[in-house]
Amino acid sequence: MLIDSYERVVDYLRVSVTERCNFRCQYCMPEKPFTWVPKENLLTFEELFEFIKIAIDEGVKKIRITGGEPLLREGLDNFVKMIYDYEASIDLAMTTNAYLLKGTAQKLRDAGLKRINVSIDTLKPEVAQAIAGKDVLKNVLEGVDEALKVGLKVKVNMVPMKGMNADEITDVLEYSKERGMSIRFIEYMENRYASKAISGMKSKELLDILAQKYEFEDEGFDGSSPSHYYVMQDGYRFGIIEPYGDDFCKQCNRIRLTAEGQLIPCLYFDEAMSISEAIKRGDIKGAALVLKEVVRTKPEKNRWGGEEGESSERAFYETGG
Ligand code: 5AD
Ligand code: SF4
Repeated sequence: MLIDSYERVVDYLRVSVTERCNFRCQYCMPEKPFTWVPKENLLTFEELFEFIKIAIDEGVKKIRITGGEPLLREGLDNFVKMIYDYEASIDLAMTTNAYLLKGTAQKLRDAGLKRINVSIDTLKPEVAQAIAGKDVLKNVLEGVDEALKVGLKVKVNMVPMKGMNADEITDVLEYSKERGMSIRFIEYMENRYASKAISGMKSKELLDILAQKYEFEDEGFDGSSPSHYYVMQDGYRFGIIEPYGDDFCKQCNRIRLTAEGQLIPCLYFDEAMSISEAIKRGDIKGAALVLKEVVRTKPEKNRWGGEEGESSERAFYETGG
């Protein structure tokens, strides 16, 4: 088992397979980066899988494939199948913008993918265009329908922003609820790559809006999920992710791997260690040592609430948030 210095069990690995993305979300990658990581620096799926096997053997039980946009990397269904065939009980999930899901959902489901998280920040085409930098809504919604049709469980993420989509909070909740998808509102996290024009909403402001329409109870945190949950009278549950809150890091069970093989103990800080050389040498023991060291050095909490406010030099599109 992997246990950090604060007695937290680390059993969740997020694997970014590419930093590239076909969207330019205002809160993540409003501009195309000056350079992309050269393709030759990326670990191959086989190399990523070599590390994933080590992580599973050390006690990882949940794996999420992220990006950038993971569906931009060809052969993703094969990668899913490699993981599933190694350990079918892994909670195998993916975060995607859903744009390319329509043609791929069935293959991913067949390969062993269980769940996806999708960002739906708006149900208005022109707002989607303003947020993502292109006219994406039709493909996204069709992708979500397809995912549901093939039996993937779908969670919706929404980042509420003032003057942008704040008036759609209950609409996106209703849309998700009607389709049996849970929703999590994510407080906008300051980062140096995001558009400076964004004004995020804090959970208190969100709850005030939701309270105008619904009655709900505070359920607190649930296991190691970073969401603060609320349950409505009809039993529907929604979550709010509050990275600025005091409790956000208490149950943190995750580490992140970038497509270049950087293993990251905490999203907020710059610290990382590479597993790339060890994996390329076939040095299983060496890679396992790096894994243990990264777990050991997981910091107690982020500093979003602190004076600096902004996270590390590393962009969210390298780590999938
Ligand atoms: N703040 C909050 N959430 C973000 N995401 C990406 N960047 C940010 C940010 N700056 C979330 C999006 C998406 C997921 C990949 O990460 O909601 O669903
Ligand atoms: Fe792409 Fe996701 Fe970042 Fe949007 S939030 S630019 S979809 S990686």
